[in-house]
Amino acid sequence: TMPILEQCFNLMDFEAVARRVMKKTAWAYYSSGADDEITMRENHSAYHKIWFRPRVLQNVKNIDFSTTMLGTKVDIPFYVTATALGKLGHPEGEVVLTRGAKKHNVIQMIPTLASCSFDEIVDAREGDQVQWLQLYVNADRKITEKIVKHAEARGCKGLFITVDAPQLGRREKDMRSKFSDVGSNVQSSGGSDVDRSQGAARAISSFIDPALCWDDIPWFMSITKMPIILKGVQRVEDVIRAIEVGVQGVVLSNHGGRQLDFARSGIEVLAEVMPVLRERGWADRIEIFVDGGVRRATDIIKALCLGAKGVGIGRPFLYAMSAYGLPGVDRAMQLLKDEMEMNMRLIGCSSVEELNPTLVDTRGLSMH
Ligand code: FNR
Repeated sequence: TMPILEQCFNLMDFEAVARRVMKKTAWAYYSSGADDEITMRENHSAYHKIWFRPRVLQNVKNIDFSTTMLGTKVDIPFYVTATALGKLGHPEGEVVLTRGAKKHNVIQMIPTLASCSFDEIVDAREGDQVQWLQLYVNADRKITEKIVKHAEARGCKGLFITVDAPQLGRREKDMRSKFSDVGSNVQSSGGSDVDRSQGAARAISSFIDPALCWDDIPWFMSITKMPIILKGVQRVEDVIRAIEVGVQGVVLSNHGGRQLDFARSGIEVLAEVMPVLRERGWADRIEIFVDGGVRRATDIIKALCLGAKGVGIGRPFLYAMSAYGLPGVDRAMQLLKDEMEMNMRLIGCSSVEELNPTLVDTRGLSMH
């Protein structure tokens, strides 16, 4: 029998339930990583190499872990990152995540390859709720331009261009359990649907342009006023280039271990990036986000100590949604808030402004 929701005490518990109750094909798509899945496992285990150096006697009666990301105030420093094909896990798809995000005042990043249409996900927004768009760049730039302009017109507050997927990674678990039941409902805002007759992987491929390069970035800046963030940056040289090109942010990410196997974890890259930016006095010129393997509030705190503005979380919310629907997503977010309050207190910080590199011991990271 399936555990009741109250028996889920952390984000890993949702994964265990989802694995049991989800359709095999859906589980394979969500849970898979590239090749030997070394990077996927490393994403979470990298956090285990960082230890805290807590402060004592700090008066931590009142804890406030709200912060801002790209100018938006959020209750807790994570956002729901873009994950394609939400209807594989839940019949209502991504709008379930929209409602959960609203309840906890966190931002949702809408995937280009959502199962719901973009407009459905925007229409599910309530009040001043904020959403961002994750963009896969189509080789046909007119389609891309339409998508971007439509997103801006519909109030999206950030454009996250995925840069770690010039070709789709090989996810063998997924390949072994081909699915064709729920495709993506990608629309070019008024144009034709993506051809889904060849399956989801093909549909996704048509939204990937291996020719995308740095010289394209100014064009994106010319067609939108939304802040532009490069999602999937993996080395300090590219962060510096991103600053020079003039984008507002980067996500240090390896796509949840689904693209290049043996890519380093985002947190490891963050530890490489921040000292260099601080040395140049550039730390405030760009907002740095990290995603991949974030499962505990201690992971979020470690990333913020090292200089991240916020972290993205993907699979845990997909699993919570697939297993329990909105109440699952709600509980997963609440568990993170509860963990956050306790751990901020235990390291001796009452606000995110106080988080800094002296609070972590990173000697276990391979950088050192
Ligand atoms: C993703 N991710 C992703 N990223 C992106 O830019 N566009 C996309 O369409 C998708 N789709 C997608 C589907 C699924 C099922 C997963 C698990 C992931 C990557 C995602 O945004 C993020 O980088 C990782 O999910 C973060 O790692 P965790 O939190 O899942 O460990």
